[in-house]
Amino acid sequence: MGFFITFEGIEGCGKSTQLRRAAERLTREGYDVVITREPGGCPIADAIRAILLDADNSAMVPLAELLLYAAARAQHVAEVIGPALREGKIVLCDRFTDSTLAYQGYGRQLDRELIGQLNTLAAGDIRPHLTLVLDCPVEVGLGRAMARINAASTAREERFEQESRLFHERIRDGFLQLAAAEAGRFLVVDGSGGIEETEDLVMTSILPRLPRR
Ligand code: TMP
Repeated sequence: MGFFITFEGIEGCGKSTQLRRAAERLTREGYDVVITREPGGCPIADAIRAILLDADNSAMVPLAELLLYAAARAQHVAEVIGPALREGKIVLCDRFTDSTLAYQGYGRQLDRELIGQLNTLAAGDIRPHLTLVLDCPVEVGLGRAMARINAASTAREERFEQESRLFHERIRDGFLQLAAAEAGRFLVVDGSGGIEETEDLVMTSILPRLPRR
């Protein structure tokens, strides 16, 4: 069995940048690393991602949204994450089940017990060994996310960034509550600093926890 690390946090927290950097570092150190993301990570889940993040789909009801995240995850786990872990790889995933609890549970305020059941249904016995929450104030994260959207004017994936400030506060708080409730799996890393500084924090969190090669 490999080692499964998930990167979580609000929009603009820096998790995707840090995930890429961690993958490069671990690959240089000789680890066999797979990087992937949710929603998405394989063609069917990427097609579901396009539906979920299309600003034209703003009429989507929260329950439909929740079920689409679960559907994308079921495919991604079966096609990508499960096989990679069985081959002994280190899988770094940009968002996973905790994003559903934070966004659909704390953010949209759907029943968190139901979400927990759907997460288990979609992911089966695949659970992260380590989850890093890149934490930063909502105004810092949204500021970075808006700058990114403005720089890439072709991007259509802006639906979530348009949500209210309060929604993102609930999500940030949700991630922190999830981390506090399961301290053995989670580490909260300060993501409000510079890229290199955060990378050092991320690597000192990951390296001691990796299985011996
Ligand atoms: P990303 O911007 O990190 O690629 O994530 C895409 C969006 O999807 C982001 O706004 C968070 C949202 N999301 C959920 O709402 N629930 C989920 O379960 C996942 C995986 C992502």
